[in-house]
Amino acid sequence: MNFELTEEQISVQQAARDFAQSELLPGVIDRDNEQKFPAEQVKKMGELGFMGMMTDPKYNGGGMDSISYVLAMEEISKVDASASVCMSVNNSLVCWGLERFGSEEQKEKYLKRLATGEVIGAFCLSEPEAGSDATSQRTTAEDKGDYYLLNGTKNWITNGKSASVYIVIAQTHPEKKHKGINALIVERGMPGFVVGRKEDKMGIRGSDTHSLMFTDVKVPKANRIGEDGFGFTFAMTTLNGGRIGIAAQALGIAAGAFELALKYAKERKAFGKHLTEHQAIQFKLADMATKIDSARLLIFKAAYLKDQKKDFVKAAAMAKLFASQIAQEVTTEAVQIHGGYGYVKEFHVERLMRDAKITQIYEGTTEIQKMVISRELLR
Ligand code: CAA
Repeated sequence: MNFELTEEQISVQQAARDFAQSELLPGVIDRDNEQKFPAEQVKKMGELGFMGMMTDPKYNGGGMDSISYVLAMEEISKVDASASVCMSVNNSLVCWGLERFGSEEQKEKYLKRLATGEVIGAFCLSEPEAGSDATSQRTTAEDKGDYYLLNGTKNWITNGKSASVYIVIAQTHPEKKHKGINALIVERGMPGFVVGRKEDKMGIRGSDTHSLMFTDVKVPKANRIGEDGFGFTFAMTTLNGGRIGIAAQALGIAAGAFELALKYAKERKAFGKHLTEHQAIQFKLADMATKIDSARLLIFKAAYLKDQKKDFVKAAAMAKLFASQIAQEVTTEAVQIHGGYGYVKEFHVERLMRDAKITQIYEGTTEIQKMVISRELLR
């Protein structure tokens, strides 16, 4: 077992760290306050190769391994989880899903532009009445011969307004339940497709989360991913990989809060000595660091298995379950160590604490991860 990172992985990590400090840190508090999508920053992330990191270079991607991807996700999430969720959805759900299951024509037409970040993608599964219960899709894709007629509403869609390419999950054969679902590529601007309300969120306030409405949208058959009825398997398989990215996001949020708490504890004095000289604070820091390292190891394991083309479903769900849980705990302790300063915006940790919560909700709640893990254990 080798715990050393390669030179290439270290340089990706360093590049992401530098980018986060120089381009994302300035303005992150304002973007959170104003719910402003980091459009310019995401464009630069595309130019630096962060939007299609694992995609094959023949489709304009970086051809990197999943370890490099989680290293970059961690660094970007330490500073700006709104930017990193955009990156995660584009890399793990949209680019990976298209590369793995899309047709050559779809890869040429869509993947090549998505992998460079020239355009951004969105993954549209959740509905007003189908969040965790993803088999209950109400959006319909009626087979009309050479096209599908798409009708329905999607909710809580990350990159909802900033995306140009949307992978939409919809029901074609209700009698077949989840085996009758399709995944369709929908372009921004197709007649009948309207971007709806923007959500006013507790955290990741810079990311644009919208509802989407589809009314008689004609989607060419050529835009269906895989065989007829493959859509649910497409969504589940893609989400398995996506969970590694969100686990790395949770890890980054926790690690970012820890670094700030450690720095603050070294500088701040109370009762005549630095906070770091108080055992109560030392114990907190020790617990936080142990949790962060444990999460990182679970994430590396899941990423490694994925790269080895081994079964990573349980490992990915475990990594997401654990990392999202410790992100809650570590960010809360980081606020506690900061005392009153932790409760105000300029010290960043209150934002990280708010951002941490979503990692227990999207790409499957904590309870869904436990369902996935137990399914795998009991199979
Ligand atoms: N990987 C591959 N296939 C899976 C799977 C997995 N992890 N989990 C289930 N499946 C397959 C099953 O094998 C089964 O297929 P077959 O019938 O062909 O065998 C099919 O899915 C249905 O399985 P179940 O009968 O177990 O279905 P269920 O309804 O009891 O549970 C579920 C399914 C796992 C709970 C699923 O609904 C699920 O994962 N829900 C969570 C959805 C989710 O993560 N949403 C996130 C939205 S996207 C997002 O958040 C992006 C963003 O903005 C950041």
